[in-house]
Amino acid sequence: MLWFPIMSSALRTVWWEAGQVCLIDQRLLPNETTIVRCSTVEDVARAIRTMQIRGAPAIGCAAAYGMALAAWDAARSAADGDHQRVYDHLATAKMLLDAQRPTAVNLSWATRRVLESTRRLIDPSPEAIAHAALTEAHAILAEDLAMCHAIGRHGVALIPPRGHVLTHCNAGGLATAGYGTALAPIRTAHEQGRPIHVYVDETRPFLQGARLTAWELLQERIPMTLITDTMAGYFMKRGEIDCVLVGADRIVANGDVANKIGTYSLAVLARAHGIPFFVAAPSSTIDLALPNGDAIPIEERSPEEVVTCFGRRIAPEGVVAAHPAFDVTPASLVTAIITEYGVVYPPFDVQLQQVASGSR
Ligand code: MRU
Repeated sequence: MLWFPIMSSALRTVWWEAGQVCLIDQRLLPNETTIVRCSTVEDVARAIRTMQIRGAPAIGCAAAYGMALAAWDAARSAADGDHQRVYDHLATAKMLLDAQRPTAVNLSWATRRVLESTRRLIDPSPEAIAHAALTEAHAILAEDLAMCHAIGRHGVALIPPRGHVLTHCNAGGLATAGYGTALAPIRTAHEQGRPIHVYVDETRPFLQGARLTAWELLQERIPMTLITDTMAGYFMKRGEIDCVLVGADRIVANGDVANKIGTYSLAVLARAHGIPFFVAAPSSTIDLALPNGDAIPIEERSPEEVVTCFGRRIAPEGVVAAHPAFDVTPASLVTAIITEYGVVYPPFDVQLQQVASGSR
């Protein structure tokens, strides 16, 4: 196990360095800390698709830098000052990046922001477009970090006095520019010296909980217990869980929430046991264009990721497996949504509009 402060200036989730997009290969954690250097937008797209970087806000930040790479690449070859060529290249890059993971809306939100920032230029030379794209990507990263800290400040008040929180997947620093969404109130509570104990679902099949959330919490010395996904009901029934706190990949107009597969089951269990179910997400995760969860595109990943574990087959050859990567929790099962602007309670529709409109 490697120990170092996860959000020190020396180690971040994703960053720009010497004309490259750098990121920690999250497929290799916690056993190896390897930095991936992306030189082209295609490299960034591949890193997102293969989940070298994952988590809705983090892939938004990576995609924003992917747009900046595309802009610099086009600006270099547009020697004749043809800015339309750069705009065309950026539009193609946006399509490529957006297609990699369809459920997390932060991805298309970030690429749109970068594109729009370049379109606002009064004198759009190729170099000016490239500069604007990179400046916007830096802003998206900085804002994401600030939003996560604000989520921590607002969400800490919701953590019950004993502090037994169950979380799913990884909605921590690795899933964002830093500090996390669901892990933000947990971190803040720990920083404030409040009692906290985190039950971490391992999160089959990619094991974001076992590999990433457990790693982050250990780094911070936050007390935790790793459980398999199937143990959640057992611990709830025994009275060991005070609340469930998860992140989100997309929250739509009526408050329905898409998050890592297994989240819906936890919400049903929480309701059956009278336990509050909280969702923590920045405004960049809110998609008012979709009326309800039925309209959310659910990413289907390869069944290979279900029938194998770390490259080793765990189910018989020829078995049929399914792999929806996300599910939708209906708003009726959500107790509150924690955003950077504050905590939103049902009915969610009007307040989500206010949060989304304050986002820019
Ligand atoms: O498939 P992943 O690992 O990208 O899924 C991540 C999640 O579902 C997270 O809970 C969500 O993105 C919120 S991250 C702050």
